[in-house]
Amino acid sequence: MTTQYYTATSLDGFIATEDDSLDWLFPLGDINDTSYPAFIAEVGALAMGATTYEWMLRHADKVADEAGSAWPYTQPTWVFTHRDLPRVEGADIRMVQGGVREVHAEMALAAGNRNIWIVGGGDLAGQFHDAGLLDEAIIQVASVTLGTGKPLFPRRVTSPPWRLLSARLIGPGFAELRYRLPGRNGAVA
Ligand SMILES: NC(=O)c1ccc[n+]([C@@H]2O[C@H](COP(=O)([O-])OP(=O)(O)OC[C@H]3O[C@@H](n4cnc5c(N)ncnc54)[C@H](OP(=O)(O)O)[C@@H]3O)[C@@H](O)[C@H]2O)c1
Repeated sequence: MTTQYYTATSLDGFIATEDDSLDWLFPLGDINDTSYPAFIAEVGALAMGATTYEWMLRHADKVADEAGSAWPYTQPTWVFTHRDLPRVEGADIRMVQGGVREVHAEMALAAGNRNIWIVGGGDLAGQFHDAGLLDEAIIQVASVTLGTGKPLFPRRVTSPPWRLLSARLIGPGFAELRYRLPGRNGAVA
């Protein structure tokens, strides 16, 4: 079981605009040409922050058009929030707040031998990283710059650095970078 931060980012390190738009992302390529179908097949539990969840709620029609359902995940999903957000009927969604460690233990139980996907945003991925619970980052680097926006990973990580495992061209719109992250004791496997 691996805990993975899988996301797309602009070249200058933003996963959404300041006002949480992803309109810049979708014209750049077809999700089915990326590693996503193989990736999601191995995911057993998801975690996301409130803003990401609210994006899914606001774009339910678009998500349904592309994925066949307004909530495309069959796996249990933990949503980090301090608020009482609307639920999606039929979806296994668990609202949580506070430290990530206990939630991660619950997610690991649910995931079994499948992986845990930290969907975003960047700070939530950072919280799992701070706790030594993030094993890999799989980043689709889009061939655009945004100038400002929601950060990919608002942490300073320099020593040891992440270890680049692979870099793959996905057409003119994306490069996919896979990184192994240092473990809790700073060791890179
Ligand atoms: N490019 C991509 O592939 C990609 C992937 C994922 C997301 N996105 C987009 O990127 C943006 C991410 O937004 P964001 O950076 O604001 O991050 P976010 O993680 O989606 O949301 C942040 C919010 O989550 C809640 N939260 C985070 N940690 C918490 C904790 N430990 N306990 C309780 N609540 C917690 C807080 O909300 P409250 O306190 O208000 O409840 C916080 O303001 C969204 O627009 C999303 O759609 C893009």
